[in-house]
Amino acid sequence: DPEAAADDFRHRIKHYEKTYEQVGDDEGGYIRRVDAGARVEVNQLQGYLPSRLVSFLMNLHLSERLIWLTRHGESIYNISGRIGGDPDLAPRGERFARSLAAFVHQRTGHANGIAVWTSSLKRTVRTAVALERPSLPWRALDEIDAGVCDGMTYDEIHTAMPDEYAARARDKFRYRYPRGESYQDVIQRLDPVILELERQQCSVLVIAHQAVLRALYAYFTELPAEDCPFLPVPMHTVIELRPHAYGCDERRIPLAPLLEQ
Ligand code: G3H
Repeated sequence: DPEAAADDFRHRIKHYEKTYEQVGDDEGGYIRRVDAGARVEVNQLQGYLPSRLVSFLMNLHLSERLIWLTRHGESIYNISGRIGGDPDLAPRGERFARSLAAFVHQRTGHANGIAVWTSSLKRTVRTAVALERPSLPWRALDEIDAGVCDGMTYDEIHTAMPDEYAARARDKFRYRYPRGESYQDVIQRLDPVILELERQQCSVLVIAHQAVLRALYAYFTELPAEDCPFLPVPMHTVIELRPHAYGCDERRIPLAPLLEQ
């Protein structure tokens, strides 16, 4: 009963008021969100991180929506075990694109009630084509930059650059490919994507790559950043996240069976 629920809620507020102490303006820096962010008050704040926090807190909301994370369909580099590059989709990857479109249409209807984001690389942009909806390509969603190892297989890296291979095996999180990136770098460049994901009130489908999706997944499921390089993000699977006040529900929807039909 909505009236009973509202009444119960008002009682809860009364209960909180018994112990709630309002921070004073002379007590130092603070950020206060009033009425679930309808108003944000900032007092005596300065510096980079506090100002980043202000925009982060301004973008939080309580609307229900889904975040779908998926890797692009299988590419010709996936088949040959090569990393990086800007390869085309393989035939199985094209089939995944169609399965993904069928899944999204079935879940959302044909209305544009969902935002579709890709990286700037061909394999994610082409995975989005069958959706027949506008999509937004983000450079920040591009795969980890493998620098001088771009386009190589892991065996080739092992043979040609054994020291680099060993260094990455020792500390996969901090290791930066020569003239490329580390997982730590990827997390930093995802900052604006995360802020924008928090801000969106509609559902968002993110079609990207293994390393960046590991980082986004770790953020929403509150896993330590250092776990990122080892998180399973299988191909041809949609990870459905439903953020709520104190966490995030998760479901994994493999679309692979459709590919064999
Ligand atoms: O380099 C491309 C991969 O998607 C990232 O995988 O960090 O486990 O090597 P990896």
